[in-house]
Amino acid sequence: MNLILMGLPGAGKGTQAEKIVEKYQIPHISTGDMFRLAIKEGTDLGKKAKAFMDQGDLVPDEVTIGIVRERLSKADCKSGFLLDGFPRTIAQAESLENLLQEMERSLDFVLHVDVPQEQLMERLTGRRICPTCGATYHVVFNPPKQDGICDNDGTELIQREDDSEETVARRLEVNVKQTQPMLDFYHDKGYLVSINGSQDIDKVFEDIDQKLQTLV
Ligand code: AP5
Repeated sequence: MNLILMGLPGAGKGTQAEKIVEKYQIPHISTGDMFRLAIKEGTDLGKKAKAFMDQGDLVPDEVTIGIVRERLSKADCKSGFLLDGFPRTIAQAESLENLLQEMERSLDFVLHVDVPQEQLMERLTGRRICPTCGATYHVVFNPPKQDGICDNDGTELIQREDDSEETVARRLEVNVKQTQPMLDFYHDKGYLVSINGSQDIDKVFEDIDQKLQTLV
């Protein structure tokens, strides 16, 4: 199963990715998570990415394409992959096409989690994450059982640095610009599947799952 999960910041890509990889046992490749880990570990990649992410801007294509190329060449991707947040530009999408051709692989679906922009600010500023296991919550829409504490491991939840109102506004502006050309690109290739991401979390997954069942 070779999948891409697309959607504006806060559309629910990470939330749905957790469910997809749990059910279908394919690696979850999130470029955002890879950059955040590199920043935490203080690597060169992290240093390069941090300035862009703090501003809400995209990390340059050559950096992003490089890390995805390396990750997709790992053995665990042989049975499939779920790309989350990549590609985000036409240059990234074209590089991915070339890479998959080299690997003699092709995409199955590009799942676009579609949510009107006006819902996204509230989703992102209310998001809380677990710094230990990476689980995602929302103070209103998906609260943990105990306020501020991860259900999985009891760690205190934190807010992502780029979830401040100002940075969210910039992230939305940057990503909205990139979205239509990407949708057109994958629509023309016949891979695009649009999913209504405004429904509750389990219903969104049900719709995704219905589509994925056609592949098994
Ligand atoms: P990345 O980490 O990919 O962030 P993003 O695209 O901005 O998306 P988010 O992770 O913020 O949102 P999401 O769609 O996963 O939503 P979530 O499920 O958490 O990228 C971060 C940065 O890295 C970028 O700004 C850029 O700088 C850089 N970067 C990454 N990839 C790049 C690339 N390819 N090229 C260049 N730069 C790149 O949900 C959000 C909240 O809503 C949660 O609280 C959740 O509980 C809640 N929620 C989810 N679903 C629902 C629902 N159905 N109803 C109600 N609430 C919901």
